[in-house]
Amino acid sequence: MKHSNCCSALLVFICFAALGCSQAVTLEVREGNSTCIKADLTAFFSITYNTSSSARTVQVSLPNTTTVDAASSSCGADGSVPWLVATFGSGHALGLSFTRNGSFYSVDNLTLQYNLSDSSIFAEANSSDVVTVVSATVGIWAAINTTYHCVSSTSVVVGGQMVTLSDMRLEAYMPGNDLSSAETVCAADQASTAAPTTTAQTPTTPTPQPATPERGTYSISNNGTICFLAQMGLQLNFSYFSQSQNKTIQEIFNLTPNLTVSSGSCESNKANLVLTQDRTTTLNFIFTVNSTTNKYHLSGITLFANWSDMTVPFTATNTSLDYLGTTVGRSYMCNAEQTLVVVEQFSLNTFRLQVQPFGVTTNHFATAEECQMDQDQMLIPIIVGAALAGLVLIVLIAYLIGRKRSHAGYQTI
Ligand SMILES: *[C@@H]1O[C@H](CO)[C@@H](O)[C@H](O)[C@H]1NC(C)=O
Ligand SMILES: *[C@@H]1O[C@H](CO)[C@@H](O)[C@H](O)[C@H]1NC(C)=O
Ligand SMILES: *[C@@H]1O[C@H](CO)[C@@H](O)[C@H](O)[C@H]1NC(C)=O
Ligand SMILES: *[C@@H]1O[C@H](CO)[C@@H](O)[C@H](O)[C@H]1NC(C)=O
Ligand SMILES: *[C@@H]1O[C@H](CO)[C@@H](O)[C@H](O)[C@H]1NC(C)=O
Ligand SMILES: *[C@@H]1O[C@H](CO)[C@@H](O)[C@H](O)[C@H]1NC(C)=O
Ligand SMILES: *[C@@H]1O[C@H](CO)[C@@H](O)[C@H](O)[C@H]1NC(C)=O
Ligand SMILES: *[C@@H]1O[C@H](CO)[C@@H](O)[C@H](O)[C@H]1NC(C)=O
Ligand SMILES: *[C@@H]1O[C@H](CO)[C@@H](O)[C@H](O)[C@H]1NC(C)=O
Ligand SMILES: *[C@@H]1O[C@H](CO)[C@@H](O)[C@H](O)[C@H]1NC(C)=O
Ligand SMILES: *[C@@H]1O[C@H](CO)[C@@H](O)[C@H](O)[C@H]1NC(C)=O
Ligand SMILES: *[C@@H]1O[C@H](CO)[C@@H](O)[C@H](O)[C@H]1NC(C)=O
Repeated sequence: MKHSNCCSALLVFICFAALGCSQAVTLEVREGNSTCIKADLTAFFSITYNTSSSARTVQVSLPNTTTVDAASSSCGADGSVPWLVATFGSGHALGLSFTRNGSFYSVDNLTLQYNLSDSSIFAEANSSDVVTVVSATVGIWAAINTTYHCVSSTSVVVGGQMVTLSDMRLEAYMPGNDLSSAETVCAADQASTAAPTTTAQTPTTPTPQPATPERGTYSISNNGTICFLAQMGLQLNFSYFSQSQNKTIQEIFNLTPNLTVSSGSCESNKANLVLTQDRTTTLNFIFTVNSTTNKYHLSGITLFANWSDMTVPFTATNTSLDYLGTTVGRSYMCNAEQTLVVVEQFSLNTFRLQVQPFGVTTNHFATAEECQMDQDQMLIPIIVGAALAGLVLIVLIAYLIGRKRSHAGYQTI
């Protein structure tokens, strides 16, 4: 018994360490003999914590040893809300609570709990707290009596941490004990099934330096009006271990706008843009407002890629970035290429970029603040223009002098 405990603990640890155990987990909440919530999903967490010397980010996947905590979970019979609470490891948990109206049900909030005392995951943490973070903007909803189906990954920012769910089949307020056969397919999947691409996306030969990425227009709407507007060309630059080439390769990947779906959320001081291409590549941007300075900046980027050529999905997160800083009420513009370094293995190149994550009115960009590089490039035509004007002036003066001289010449004849 002792022996088997040790090994399952070890297995969980290897899962965490290698990030490889991205197997689907099945979770069920029952009351009496009937099932009210059922979920089949894969989940990754990207958690940043403090050691005594620095901040550190770990990637944790929901292990297949995860179980439903029957005591905390609920079907909502006694007037409480339906709640799925899944626990794993020593004191970690993922919670989803649900709400419904006449025709739809949705995930009301997502809770992540993690125990910093667990040194197998949070090595050298300088705290032993059990931390609980909650997000109320999840964006998972489906028609009642249908199963929510989403193969694409969905990233949710929860108190600065990142939860990524993928390959998901889920239903609450279930009419029977099995997932309904009727499905509500998420927007990200609909877009990618419409496009005639499958896994052909994954390059198998070393990609030549690709051209400049196409510029896409992405937006998020809140209650029918656009609250987040972006136009940009995006190029991923990251390294991963390629199965077909049997080595780590440096991948340059351009996002294709018409294969990319945008989603996300707008709050008064935090905005989250999620771009998903082909279900397999998800890029997440977090913008935050500093209310003291009344400025906003790009504070977090996450990439999640699950390509067929990868042995394990690639994830990279940094939630303490400071890019694209601008005054609230303005948009940020940079026509020149910019490189946003996220982590050592991943940077993002942006082209012809204009974004406005806050204060969009009438579906248009507000006045832009331009990046330094654009301002420098503006100087070149000014300098060239000034030089040309000077040249014209010199020629003109020379001409006038010459004319005077030749006039004088005639008179002497
Ligand atoms: C559950 O099912 C068993 C046998 O099918 C039955 O004996 C029992 O009464 C049921 N319990 C409830 C709460 O319906
Ligand atoms: C880490 O420490 C800094 C202060 O040094 C604090 O602002 C931050 O909230 C801490 N982060 C976590 C995850 O505890
Ligand atoms: C943990 O370390 C951070 C710096 O990394 C520091 O700011 C924080 O106060 C420390 N917390 C504790 C409880 O020691
Ligand atoms: C947190 O982890 C520690 C060490 O693994 C364990 O002793 C403790 O019981 C855990 N806390 C909870 C609330 O599970
Ligand atoms: C999240 O949902 C749970 C269960 O319904 C509830 O207890 C908790 O108060 C909610 N948290 C927030 C911040 O809404
Ligand atoms: C019901 O909820 C869905 C999803 O949250 C929403 O789109 C819809 O507008 C709501 N309908 C009503 C009548 O409130
Ligand atoms: C859902 O299914 C149950 C049982 O089949 C039925 O009673 C209910 O009216 C259905 N609800 C909707 C909104 O279709
Ligand atoms: C996407 O755009 C490219 C180039 O603009 C075009 O060739 C392709 O047909 C488009 N695909 C879809 C699904 O619209
Ligand atoms: C959505 O907009 C309508 C009309 O513009 C307004 O009456 C309603 O309160 C808004 N709903 C929310 C949730 O903001
Ligand atoms: C991609 O990243 C690598 C390593 O950081 C760098 O050497 C290379 O120049 C980058 N390529 C592009 C096209 O940005
Ligand atoms: C992959 O490369 C390693 C060393 O570079 C080699 O030992 C191994 O046999 C290779 N595997 C395959 C399937 O080619
Ligand atoms: C806001 O900006 C001020 C000045 O740059 C800085 O001292 C402060 O830490 C920032 N606050 C947050 C929450 O980032």
